[in-house]
Amino acid sequence: MSEFVPGLAGVVAARSAIGFINGLEGILRYRGIRIEELAEKSTFEEVSYLLLFGKLPTATELAAFDAELRAVRAVPACVLDILRALPATGHPMLALQTATAALGTVNPQMDVSDRAGNLRATYRLIASMPTVVAAFDRIRKDLPVIEPDASLSHAANFMYMLNGERPAANVERLIDVCLVLHAEHGFNASTFTGRVIGSSLANPYSVVSGAVGSLSGPLHGGANERVLEMLQKIPSVDAVEGFLDHMIETKQKIMGLGHRVYKVKDPRSHALQTLAKDVFETQGGTPLYAIATRLEQLAADRMGDKGIYPNVDFYSGLVYEGLGIETDLFTPVFAIARVSGWTAHWLEQLEDNRIYRPTQMYVGEKDAHYVEIADR
Ligand code: ACO
Repeated sequence: MSEFVPGLAGVVAARSAIGFINGLEGILRYRGIRIEELAEKSTFEEVSYLLLFGKLPTATELAAFDAELRAVRAVPACVLDILRALPATGHPMLALQTATAALGTVNPQMDVSDRAGNLRATYRLIASMPTVVAAFDRIRKDLPVIEPDASLSHAANFMYMLNGERPAANVERLIDVCLVLHAEHGFNASTFTGRVIGSSLANPYSVVSGAVGSLSGPLHGGANERVLEMLQKIPSVDAVEGFLDHMIETKQKIMGLGHRVYKVKDPRSHALQTLAKDVFETQGGTPLYAIATRLEQLAADRMGDKGIYPNVDFYSGLVYEGLGIETDLFTPVFAIARVSGWTAHWLEQLEDNRIYRPTQMYVGEKDAHYVEIADR
């Protein structure tokens, strides 16, 4: 009989050559390249190519790939109509999940043995996520939807479609680095969800729509907006200790801390902390950054021996907050980045596919009988 492993912790479910994580040393590599190096030198478009094709593009390859993405940023009118029909109070992650599935009805890619069609769907998914997120935000605020601008980079175009203004170069770079940092992370819950869906040979819009749903939960990508809400409830740096004591006594999880794989501070968190500091230094002070660093320090003293340190979600919300992005858009911004990782994993899954079908340990009744309703 097979061993029961709750949460599949440590279970090897596939071979993959996309993302490498060393959780004890805090190392993350995409296709062998350290995340710190990519955050400093690369762009989201280039990283997406790297994840999808397994190598850095030449200048010509990158230009062609970028042009493919820019050409399919717009979403069809019927998808915008669906977004308009949704309640303005609905969470943007649900709107994104809905719109992603809807995109598949317009451009179906049902035969996943067609590699060229799979790549076209991949480009469309990566290119249209920012358009959907920005459109939903504007629709719910009763603002006109802004068409994508093909002269702008992926990051700049997202901020333009969201705010109606072309972002300054430093804002564009900040968002771009955030997208690079969030693009891939091995067999996390949402990527695994996508691979499971893909393993049934379902179409890529179902793969990504399912992955969006998985990312939205508070134990995964949904933690980033909850971190900000949590920090906002702590009135001052002096109040952090009492807050932490209360959380530990009442056995509540502190959002943005802890990770299944990392037992040291997540390398992405180091990079995002630096970005958050930069944003606050340029945009003016806020107590939130000081509250966050105090919480990190006290939590390390109390829970460091359990390997509980900041994960990617701890500082990312502070960066987005500093850039004026709505709190409930933080996880959609994560999805805009992670779609490159999801699609890279989907393509990899298809190369050597076997449907995921684990087993269970049955603990229910063994020999029950039907009881007539009148006799129950
Ligand atoms: N705050 C307080 N205690 C924690 C935290 C936390 N954030 N995270 C883990 N712990 C404790 C648990 O209470 C448990 O303690 P115990 O052994 O005394 O019972 C121990 O550490 C192990 O925790 P698990 O929840 O079993 O660890 P698991 O690997 O299953 O979960 C997870 C990892 C979900 C990330 C967890 O650390 C967590 O819930 N963190 C808060 C939510 C969060 O920030 N999620 C984003 C993760 S990054 C990402 O997905 C993009």
